[in-house]
Amino acid sequence: MKLRHNARFSTICIHAGQIPDPSTGAIITPIYQTSTYVQDALGVHKGYEYARTQNPTRSAFEANLAAMEHGVAGFGFASGMAATGAVMTLLKSGDHVVVTDNTYGGTYRFFEQVLRKYQLDFTYADTSQLGEIERAIRPATKLLFLETPTNPTLRLTDLAGACTIAHGHGIPVVVDNTFASPYVQRPIDFGADLVIHSTTKFLNGHSDSVGGAVIAVRDDHVEWLKFVQNAEGAIIGPMDAWLVMRGTKTLPIRMERHNANAMALAEFLAAHPKVTRVHYPGLPSHPQHDLARRQMLGFGGLVSFEMGSLERARTVLNSVQLMALAESLGGVETLISHPATMTHASVPPERRLQIGITDDMVRVSVGIEDLDDLKEDLEQALDRV
Ligand SMILES: Cc1ncc(COP(=O)(O)O)c(C=O)c1O
Repeated sequence: MKLRHNARFSTICIHAGQIPDPSTGAIITPIYQTSTYVQDALGVHKGYEYARTQNPTRSAFEANLAAMEHGVAGFGFASGMAATGAVMTLLKSGDHVVVTDNTYGGTYRFFEQVLRKYQLDFTYADTSQLGEIERAIRPATKLLFLETPTNPTLRLTDLAGACTIAHGHGIPVVVDNTFASPYVQRPIDFGADLVIHSTTKFLNGHSDSVGGAVIAVRDDHVEWLKFVQNAEGAIIGPMDAWLVMRGTKTLPIRMERHNANAMALAEFLAAHPKVTRVHYPGLPSHPQHDLARRQMLGFGGLVSFEMGSLERARTVLNSVQLMALAESLGGVETLISHPATMTHASVPPERRLQIGITDDMVRVSVGIEDLDDLKEDLEQALDRV
């Protein structure tokens, strides 16, 4: 089994990093559930000493994700937030970061309530406007932190344009690619230096593990992340790494269905008289539809819509039967949520409004069920409004 250098994405998902187990030939990488490794003699070992530092299951996971994102190396972390935490250790006190204004609420909380204690400074800019990135950059700016599409307003950032601006100032670019998944978009192809994932979402795809990853290109980043992964120790465990690898094998076919179902539901919602507004990059009415067509393969599995009032949104959220009312996203099953009180509750109300997260907004992580069942479920919920 040999992966050619020009292998296509679906082949990479199944095979990259997946070398048959050298001791048995097992086609699936085993879950190396061990904390240490026996050494043959003093100073003689097989490359594995202690499982925080090296684990073969984690290595296979890291190689798999690095290949999928067209990076040089990948690093597995205990969660998406732990991955973000590791990237932020590239900075030192006094440094400034320009961040997409409606970045994930947990990222905002981490930056504002934890990292500010260490004298890091943040400017939240509407990175969908390239001019806003340029305006936010200062001499102390040491990182551009992007999320596209954003959660839950599904605004996009032009990755190639943003990377050109940042690199012109010598600033590396990190992209949280959780929402799109590498099937839909590969930021490194547009110039990004680092990619972050909450593997909890589309990469795992089955809502049964929590994990994170960073994919890097530059030698200095690779070297530091390898060091800090061991030094901080916020590693992904072998069982979770294995569950994600099981997920990535089917990512392309899952994403095709997520994309198709989300597109159809967005069109259904846009035509529904009780829905006041739909946010989905695949709709021609989306202000950045052309950019979405250039930058993304399909338009992703997330759709948000507005109901006109909190009460009307609540009725929909409480009336769905097939869709599960739950946080998170990217699983095979459809989840519905209320960003203002769930995923973005930690964002102050005035900031939420500034970035377009209204109280009447409902977000759907569209799963891969039969489309007609999903439509019928929304239809009956909307009938109750
Ligand atoms: C875009 C994005 N980034 C990062 C995270 C954090 O990931 P985790 O929950 O795995 O720590 C999330 C979680 O919802 C997310 O949606």
